[in-house]
Amino acid sequence: MNKVIFFSMGIAICLVTACGGNGAEKPVPATAKDAVSTTAAVLPDTAAFKDMVDGQPTALYILKNKNQVTAAITNYGARLVSLLVPDKNGVRTDVVLGYDSIGEYVHRPETYFGAIVGRYGNRIAKGKFKLEGKEYTLVKNNGPNSLHGGKKGFGAVVWTAQQLNDHTLQLSYLSKDGEEGYPGNLQVKVIYTLTDSNQLTISYQATTDKATVLNLTNHAYFNLNGQGSGTILNHVLELNADRYTPVDSTLIPTGEIAPVAGTPLDFRTPTAIGARIGADHIQLKYGKGYDHNFVINPFQGDMIKGGHTLMPTATVRGDLSGIVMKVYTEEPGVQFYSGNFMQGINPLKGGKKDDYRSAFCLETQHFPDSPNHPDFPSTELKPGQTYLTSTVYQFSAK
Ligand code: GLA
Repeated sequence: MNKVIFFSMGIAICLVTACGGNGAEKPVPATAKDAVSTTAAVLPDTAAFKDMVDGQPTALYILKNKNQVTAAITNYGARLVSLLVPDKNGVRTDVVLGYDSIGEYVHRPETYFGAIVGRYGNRIAKGKFKLEGKEYTLVKNNGPNSLHGGKKGFGAVVWTAQQLNDHTLQLSYLSKDGEEGYPGNLQVKVIYTLTDSNQLTISYQATTDKATVLNLTNHAYFNLNGQGSGTILNHVLELNADRYTPVDSTLIPTGEIAPVAGTPLDFRTPTAIGARIGADHIQLKYGKGYDHNFVINPFQGDMIKGGHTLMPTATVRGDLSGIVMKVYTEEPGVQFYSGNFMQGINPLKGGKKDDYRSAFCLETQHFPDSPNHPDFPSTELKPGQTYLTSTVYQFSAK
């Protein structure tokens, strides 16, 4: 019989260890490494982020609120380096993966830890697309495809930072016409805001002088039990998505928008991430686990031109820490990635390691490969238009 636990909010969920059937994985036992920390997490040393990269200064900027929530962001890749949140016992826990120094980010940018991804979050098939009758060829960096903006995307360039106050950091970057193959000089601004209601908001703005495509997101790797604390397979996830965009073996959408009902991609009720990750389903084989774009309910159409409503997107709870993260976005989709390519070879903050599936990502976005799918919400931006979108991560613990 399935073992069921109850949250205080009264929702029943199956533990990874217990939900049988449907090809469920073997139990994921908690190990000593998985124990929730009793020591408060600290920020990396800001001095380790003071450097010159590509001839420009880098630093670490700190945002704080009155509840002990603290975010650290570097202007290299506009990356979220640390996010300290009190757990159910009030112990400050660092819920995002990152490195201890700027040198490690520059050395290993392709992990995308905490990065702002651009110009195009996720994949563009064969690194090609047509816009206004002209074909553009991008830098390919992921087998046959272009991923996350190419070899040197927005997560690997130095942004200009302006700290407006304790709660707000503004970062700007000019992506030149032709960079990584994309047309148009694109002026981008990203604003991180930490509120006293424990919301971290990331707002994105952009304008261009030539028609282009863009899809900006943040690629934070979360472990709500604390970065480097072990598996995320017992975290419980709820996704506000009735549908997803199935992919081929190179993780490019087939164009279909399919129901999640009856598949292991159905997270419409809170379910442990690992409960069905090993199920015999072709999509999980292609993704080596979850690496899929979910269509957020209700479908909002083209967010570049359309309304700006923050939609409830996801709720995740760290099984050991009790930290709950709720995600809201104006974007029509979210890439849920279960850390399937993590190999434990990168050194995390405080001497930890980025073990296999020890983090998950929820990258709010337009759908992957939209420039080659006219039926998907458009990712075009034209001169005179302003790209405006935001995503909110809200924290609590119980
Ligand atoms: C995204 C992709 C994954 C993977 C990670 C980074 O989430 O969809 O396939 O490339 O970024 O490793």
